[in-house]
Amino acid sequence: MSKQKTAVVVLAAGRGARMKSELPKVLHPLAGRAMVHYALDAARAISPERLVCVIGPGMTELAQAIAPVPAVVQEKPLGTGDAVKAARATLGGFEGRVLVLFGDTPFISPETLEAVAGAVNGDADSDVAVAVLGFRPADPGEYGRLKLGDGGRLEAIVEYRDATDEERAIGLCNSGVMAISGTHLFSLLDRATTDNARGEIYLTDVVALARAEGHSCVAIEGDVEELLGVNSRGDLAVAEAVLQTRLRGAALAGGATLIDPTTVYFSFDTEIGSDVVIGPNVFFGPGVRIANEVEIKANCHIEGARIAEGAIIGPFARLRPGAEIGRSVHIGNYVEIKAARIEEGAKINHLAYVGDARVGPGTNIGAGTITCNYDGFDKHFTDIGSGVFVGSNTAMVAPVVIGDGAVIGAGSVITGDVAEDALALSRAEEKQIEGGAREYRVRKQAAKSARGEETPKAAAGGGKRRLGPKG
Ligand code: UD1
Ligand code: MG
Repeated sequence: MSKQKTAVVVLAAGRGARMKSELPKVLHPLAGRAMVHYALDAARAISPERLVCVIGPGMTELAQAIAPVPAVVQEKPLGTGDAVKAARATLGGFEGRVLVLFGDTPFISPETLEAVAGAVNGDADSDVAVAVLGFRPADPGEYGRLKLGDGGRLEAIVEYRDATDEERAIGLCNSGVMAISGTHLFSLLDRATTDNARGEIYLTDVVALARAEGHSCVAIEGDVEELLGVNSRGDLAVAEAVLQTRLRGAALAGGATLIDPTTVYFSFDTEIGSDVVIGPNVFFGPGVRIANEVEIKANCHIEGARIAEGAIIGPFARLRPGAEIGRSVHIGNYVEIKAARIEEGAKINHLAYVGDARVGPGTNIGAGTITCNYDGFDKHFTDIGSGVFVGSNTAMVAPVVIGDGAVIGAGSVITGDVAEDALALSRAEEKQIEGGAREYRVRKQAAKSARGEETPKAAAGGGKRRLGPKG
């Protein structure tokens, strides 16, 4: 590859009308990450001298998402050529080659970008002013068509809406990726007109304009899957499926067992250690790190969580952002953990909510236990020490501290700190009325008979029913 410098311009000013969304198209996520980042990553991977993204007016969320990549605003959507012109000031006299790509083409690879940029090498003996990445989709639809001349040299790109039937029969389409010699780019664009079916300034016109000046242009053919462009929710679903297949393959190759790979959904950044077993129907949102020898049983939803070696999660567990699961911890069914550190060997096995908390090593949290972390206005912390036993159905009203070795009786509502090794109970005293149940049944039965109704068998009581062996 030549040593010429490269500037990359990523176009993302279009709102993406076909997405029918308030969100700019390139912010729609793929595997938990805004689409635009995939094209930006590919661009960064070729280490360009400059990188700039063209966005539409009012797209502040997009500008924030791509920072520190500079965003320039194209005030009106006057076409792809106009969008590139919006980057003129930022490129300020850049003399290398300018590589243009679209923010809605997530699978473009750095190798392909290198190949297109490298074709505009500026060597004195090869004066290639424009290189265009073409592809042959099964259905060329409304893509622009690449017109080749003698020796396969590129002569022009004709947009579908401006094309004759003969031109529409061409199978080689414009992917949108294009490299243009920086020396010529803006003077060519200044000569592009809006004299076309859409009344826009087409970037694609630079090819015919460059040819008219005697410069040569080339077409490079790329891979169809790599050039998949997202214009609709249907395209988004197709792209997501492609990405999930890749992520599942990477997890398997990395030493994880996926019992039913097609039902596991990863995020772009899911990190998985070796000898991890993942059951069916598991969803990973962004920010999950899983150490070695972790088992994640079926039907878990996990995001923003770290899981240390030997932990067992699920089935049916939910780990929310800030969940830090320590070594050999067990998190069981219908347990939700948020912003909480669960330390080594602790067990939270059934029906619990632990949020804004620490659970010390070896502590056992009983079924139905809740940290009441929110008072309707603020969040508060629950600190539970080591070796604590929290009985079932306990509500710990934060802020509260439970000392090491404490035991909390089932059904307690704990509002004050519990000292180390203390037994805390907060229940109404239990009352027993001897024979009270029998009296109750007699009274209810009599009332029913008085109304001439039959007494249901189950309510008749007594120890006579035996459905199976006791156990
Ligand atoms: C464009 C190409 C077409 C190619 C196709 C590939 C032109 C004139 N046509 O058509 O040859 O086959 O892509 O997908 O270039 N954008 C702006 N500002 C604008 C207009 C567009 O930033 O004023 C951005 C969009 O956000 C998008 C990209 O440019 O990322 C392409 O725009 P789009 O309207 O999708 O162009 P197509 O009609 O698909
Ligand atoms: Mg498009």
